[in-house]
Amino acid sequence: MLTLGIESSCDETAAAVVDETGLVHSDVVRSQVALHAPYGGIVPELASRDHVRGITLVIREALGRAGVGFDALQGIAVTARPGLSGALLVGVQVAKGIAWARGLPIVAVDHLVGHLLAVFLQRASAGTNANANANAAEGLRYPFVALLASGGHTAIYRVNGSRLDEIHELGATRDDAAGEAFDKIAKLVGLGYPGGPIVDRLAAQGDATRFPIPPPMARRDSLEFSFSGVKSFVARHVAEHGKPTDDAALADLCAGFQRTVVDSLVKKTVRAARGEGVASVVLAGGVAANRELRRTAAQACAASGLTLFVPPMASCTDNAAMIAYAGALRLVRGESDDLSFTTATRTALPRVTRKGGGRRAAAR
Ligand code: KG4
Ligand code: ZN
Repeated sequence: MLTLGIESSCDETAAAVVDETGLVHSDVVRSQVALHAPYGGIVPELASRDHVRGITLVIREALGRAGVGFDALQGIAVTARPGLSGALLVGVQVAKGIAWARGLPIVAVDHLVGHLLAVFLQRASAGTNANANANAAEGLRYPFVALLASGGHTAIYRVNGSRLDEIHELGATRDDAAGEAFDKIAKLVGLGYPGGPIVDRLAAQGDATRFPIPPPMARRDSLEFSFSGVKSFVARHVAEHGKPTDDAALADLCAGFQRTVVDSLVKKTVRAARGEGVASVVLAGGVAANRELRRTAAQACAASGLTLFVPPMASCTDNAAMIAYAGALRLVRGESDDLSFTTATRTALPRVTRKGGGRRAAAR
């Protein structure tokens, strides 16, 4: 089931050709980081316009690298939610156009489902890809608990299978996403955008005990996150003492911040896995690139008898291969969507955590 995936929900224009076994035939990502960097964050209207500029080039390149034409495809998968409205529309309209012109079935994919299934992608024969080594899911079976931490989302899920109704949120952030917190504190202390990789690098040389930041939402049974307090702590520090002027102080502040965020992510993920009685834990989303997160999660999982699965970088950050794969799994079940489907800014996965406050429903 050779499927063309298209992704334009945020600041990456991406296309990929993947089959229902997860084998990646091609995976092309055109990043807009340089476009948004001067603003220290994503400017939605600039994102939409740049998707329009890039999308046909990216799709052609994905087909070219896979060595196939439109006639070899069995279906189209496209991110329809969640994301920026204008950005999503570009990918969805192009996907619908191709599906209509070629008479191909189309499936609307929830971006978060793509992230949660990305661990199953096999990049072994995707020769053009830098991470072309891993079958990260070797031995992974449902059910598992996944931590999805990116610039837009941070939540823990119980994943019983690939269908929407088999994925259950156990807890999410009440305010900022983890990646958003990395980006905001990088901006506060005068580092570049996106902040995650820069903070990761600086923190490696820092002393996390010099500026200890209290753990957020530390209540024993809670699986919810909050990162706005951590960000405010750094903001207050900068307001009182100014931006760190020497490299050591900057590294120490980054290390203190990262330690608190990583500890919170890992503690709650392990707590969730133990509570759910699953054997496996999966990391997903751009923040899963964080080296301290990978290391700390590996240690904590080993100590609790859990097996940790971490996808290669190209599968963690936004890409269309994960969208194509999630779509291919629906296509093999004979499912497809009517061309009248629309985009949405929110995920289709039921939420148990309310932003800014308590719970809507008891977590299962
Ligand atoms: O999944 P992703 O590529 O896009 C979204 O869907 O948001 O995640 C991007 C986020 C950014 O906030 C970026 O700062 C963060 O992931 N990130 C990192 C690292 N690499 C990327 N955060 C911490 N440490 C990293 N090494
Ligand atoms: Zn994403």
